[in-house]
Amino acid sequence: MADQKAILKAGDKEIELPILSGTEGQDVIDVRSLGAQGYFTFDPGFMATGSCESEITYIDGANGVLLHRGYPIEELARDASYLEVCYMLLNGEAPNKEQYEEFRATITRHTMVHEQINMFFHGFRNDAHPMAMLCGTVGAMSSFYHSDLDVSNSEERMRSAHRLIAKMPTLVAMCYKYNVGQPFVYPRNDLSYAANFLNMMFSVPAEDYEISPAVERAMDRIFTLHADHEQNASTSTVRLAGSSGANPYACIAAGVASLWGPAHGGANEACLNMLEEIGSVDRIPEFIERAKDKNDPFRLMGFGHRVYKNHDPRATVMRESCHEVLKELDLQDPLLDVAMELERIALSDDYFTEKKLFPNVDFYSGIVLKAIGIPTNMFTCIFALSRTVGWISHWHEMMSEEKQKIGRPRQLYTGYSKRSFSPIK
Ligand code: CMC
Repeated sequence: MADQKAILKAGDKEIELPILSGTEGQDVIDVRSLGAQGYFTFDPGFMATGSCESEITYIDGANGVLLHRGYPIEELARDASYLEVCYMLLNGEAPNKEQYEEFRATITRHTMVHEQINMFFHGFRNDAHPMAMLCGTVGAMSSFYHSDLDVSNSEERMRSAHRLIAKMPTLVAMCYKYNVGQPFVYPRNDLSYAANFLNMMFSVPAEDYEISPAVERAMDRIFTLHADHEQNASTSTVRLAGSSGANPYACIAAGVASLWGPAHGGANEACLNMLEEIGSVDRIPEFIERAKDKNDPFRLMGFGHRVYKNHDPRATVMRESCHEVLKELDLQDPLLDVAMELERIALSDDYFTEKKLFPNVDFYSGIVLKAIGIPTNMFTCIFALSRTVGWISHWHEMMSEEKQKIGRPRQLYTGYSKRSFSPIK
C-alpha cells in the first residue's frame, strides 16, 4: 500500500484521499471517507470503480493478461486440468499430487444430486430454457442442505463449494436431458470431470457413448477458460447477494441469473444465433455493415470486451482448441464456415481493429460447443458450470474477511422533489 494521496477539490472544500496500491495493476483512490464529507462518487457501469480487494484473479486488459492466483491462463489451459484450476482458485495455491487426489475424490463423491431434485425438473415445461431451469434448481439446492448453511463457518463454506463444483455438471446435463425428453444419466465416478459431464449429456441407456479424447480435452479447456474472470457482472452479483449473509446456493443462483444476459454469458448463444441468422458466407458483408451502422442496434456477438482492449488471452487459447477440434472431428458444417470467414473479415476490417473489437472467448467456445454437438441453448449453462468455481471462490474470500459490510451503493437522484399527493376524486 502506497502513502500517496489524491487531493479532491469539491467546491471550496479540499478533500485528501489515500491512494492504495495492489501487487499488480492500477492504483486506486480510496473514496470510503467521502460519504462522511457530504459526497458520493457517481460511476454507472462501474467504469472506474474497484468494488473489493481480492487475491484470486488479475486482469491487465491493455496487455491481454489473465492470471489466476498468479498463474497465466495460457499455462493453465495447456498444463493443468480444470479441477487443478478449481483447487487453486478456491485454496490459493496449486495442489501437489496428494492434495489433488484428495480434492478429486471429494468432488467425485459429491456428483450425485438428491433424487428429489428430479421432481423440480418435472415441474418445468419441456421447452423451458435450460438457464431458467438451472437458476431454479441451483437456488433450490439450499433447501436440501439447511444443516450446512452457516456462512460464517469456513468448513461449511468449503463443503458448499465442493458440492456446487461437483453437482453443477449433473444439474446442467439434467437441464439438457429434460429438454430433449431423455432419461437423466447418473454421474460416473470413474471418468474425468469433463468426460463425466459429456457422458451425462450424451449417453442413453440403449447404447454406450464413446468419448473422443480431443473432445474431452476441449471440454476441459472450455471449463478452465471460463473458470474465473475477476469482478465481472455475475461475480459482482454473487458478492453483492452474499454480502447480506445469503446462503451460497442462493448467491450462485443470482450469479446464474446475471450471467444469462447476452452482454455477458449469453454471448456464445447469441453468437451462434447470429451465425445462423447470417446463414452463408456471402451474407457476411451485409452483417458487417450493419454492425458498423450507428443507427442499427445490431452488434457482432462474440466480439469486443469491456476489459480486454488488445486481445482476449482466453480467445487465443480457445481459437487453437477450436481449430484442433474442427480438424479432428472433420465436420462439414456451413455455420462453421461462416464463423471462420467472419473471424477473418472482422480481424482485417478497420472498424473492428480501430475500436479493438477482437473475437472474445465466447466466439470460439460457441463454435467448439456446436462442433461437440451441444445445442445452442445449453451454451450459457456450460459457462455457468465453469464459472461456479470462480463465483464460489469470490464468495468464500469475501466471507472470510474479518470486517464485512453489506453492499449498498447510493444514487444520483433525478426524480421529482417533494410534492403533495392529491387523492383521486
Ligand atoms: N459489434 C459492433 N460494434 C461494437 C461491438 C460489437 N460486438 N462491441 C462494441 N462495439 C462498438 C460500440 O458500438 C461502440 O462504438 P462507438 O464508440 O462508435 O459508440 C464501441 O465499440 C465501444 O463499445 P461499448 O459498448 O462502449 O463497449 P463496452 O466495453 O461497454 O462493451 C461488450 C463491451 C462486450 C458489452 C461489447 O463489446 C458487446 O456488446 N459485445 C458483444 C457481446 C459479447 O460478445 N459479449 C461477451 C463478452 S466476453 C464474455 C464475458 O466475459 O462475459
